[in-house]
Amino acid sequence: MNTAHPGAVDLLVCTTCRRADPDAPRPGALLHDALAAHGLPEGVRLIATDCLSNCTRGCTVALRGPGRWSYVYGNLDPAQAPLIAEGAALFRDAPGGLVPWRDRPEHFRKNCIARIPPMEAPE
Ligand code: FES
Repeated sequence: MNTAHPGAVDLLVCTTCRRADPDAPRPGALLHDALAAHGLPEGVRLIATDCLSNCTRGCTVALRGPGRWSYVYGNLDPAQAPLIAEGAALFRDAPGGLVPWRDRPEHFRKNCIARIPPMEAPE
C-alpha cells in the first residue's frame, strides 16, 4: 500500500486500448506515458493495466482506493493527462471518493462509465 499520503489512491490506465489503425501506437499506452510525464499529485499511484472492458469508448482509466467508491472513465485522449491528474487529486481528497458532481471535471461528468461501491461493508 502507498503510505506516502494518508488518502493514497490508484489511477489505473488501460494500456491496451487501440483505435482503428492496428499499426498506430496504442493510445492507451500513450495516455499512460503522458500521465507519467505530466506527473501525478502526491498520493496518486499510476498503474498500467490490461483491458478495463470499455474498449469501444477508450481510452479508459479507473480510480480506486481503500474505503472509497471506484470510478471508471472513458473517451479519454492522451492530451487529457492534466485533466485526469486534476480529477485524481479531487478523488484522493474526497471522503469515500465521492467528489460532488458539480466539482468534477466536465469530461468526468459526461464520461463516467461505471462506479463501484467500496469493498468494505457499511458500518
Ligand atoms: S482495451 Fe482498453 S478498455 Fe478494453
